[in-house]
Amino acid sequence: MPATAGFRAARRGTAAKAPSGAHLTGMAPLFYKNPSHPRCLRAWPRFQRNAPLLDDPWRFRFTLLVAAAMLLLLVAGGLVTSTGSGLAVPDWPLSFGRLLPPMVGGVLFEHGHRLIAGAVGLLTLILAVVTERREPRRAVRRLARAALGAEVLQGLLGGLTVLLRLPPVVSAAHACLAQACFAMVVALLVVTARSWIASTPADPRAGRSPFGPLAVAAGAVYLQLALGAILRHTGAGLAIPDFPLAFGRLVPPFDSFDVAAHFAHRVFAVVVLALVGYAALRAGRDRSRGDVAVPARMAATLTLLQLFLGGAAVLSRLAVVPTTAHVVNAALILAALVIAALRSRRAPLPAGVALPVAAARGSAA
Ligand code: HEM
Repeated sequence: MPATAGFRAARRGTAAKAPSGAHLTGMAPLFYKNPSHPRCLRAWPRFQRNAPLLDDPWRFRFTLLVAAAMLLLLVAGGLVTSTGSGLAVPDWPLSFGRLLPPMVGGVLFEHGHRLIAGAVGLLTLILAVVTERREPRRAVRRLARAALGAEVLQGLLGGLTVLLRLPPVVSAAHACLAQACFAMVVALLVVTARSWIASTPADPRAGRSPFGPLAVAAGAVYLQLALGAILRHTGAGLAIPDFPLAFGRLVPPFDSFDVAAHFAHRVFAVVVLALVGYAALRAGRDRSRGDVAVPARMAATLTLLQLFLGGAAVLSRLAVVPTTAHVVNAALILAALVIAALRSRRAPLPAGVALPVAAARGSAA
């Protein structure tokens, strides 16, 4: 048994508080009452080994901050395209050869976006380092590393798209990767939440899990936002100028790539709505799983809203507010589906039932 300071304090019966994680197992009262109880002495090293896994609320809060900052960055990035400010600053990494140019006109959007992106990059780096040092689960450490790698690549794509004068492929890749970065941080948030840590992996034999439909819906939403990015960055946003009909018909004449891409985005929106709706229905079947059903229902509601925002984007001739809201809402739909899908992989912890540490350690594997 390693003789740590906490362990020695417990042996002397002077431990001031229960070790991190003990409250999740129902052993905390015993620690407070009699820290030198043989059960507590046996449990100390285990709790200390698992403490970062079992209870790291500050890391969770920091991840929440990174996710919120990324959402703000998505708003800022959406505004750059919606206001046509992509080339307001023609150089990179500096802006007009300076760190802080006068923030007027399109420069406010473009350089503001760069400043927020810099802050988000720094926050993601800190998150990856902290996760590397404190997280015992290899998969979670990898996810944090992947989020950092994606963020670095995202910065390079952003710079490249400016230097190459907004080529559609690079700009669309930049838009898609932004959504993936946000989804990764949301996934980190889910797996570091206490609700995840306090639960065990779902029993694969227990009923039909909504994981499949939720994962398929998330994949379809990603495909749809990639189609949207192609539309937006090839300038095909108004290739079909009316809504809900297309040139006054159900099916438009396919006389250009722009019309075909635009129409594909509209048709696939209906498929996405059906898939997200079905996933929400499946998630709602198990009444004991509000933690899965609520984000799934939220995704379905936001998808419905997304159709209206898409229509509003067209009818308003790509006004700034509906087009930017359309981009950001897509990120929220994806996030809600990621949350629901991941949570559906866990078994709920019945109220009042203590979690055996062994189960938590098993889930860390
Ligand atoms: C589930 C449904 C939908 C999703 C997830 C979705 C997602 C997106 C995203 C993410 C973009 C922007 C990509 C970017 O640059 O980052 C976009 C662009 C666009 N979407 Fe959708 N969309 C959906 C439905 C619709 C519908 C029903 C319409 C109706 C016409 C529509 C119209 C547009 C238009 C016009 C653009 C280009 C806006 C511009 O050029 O500024 N979308 N979509």
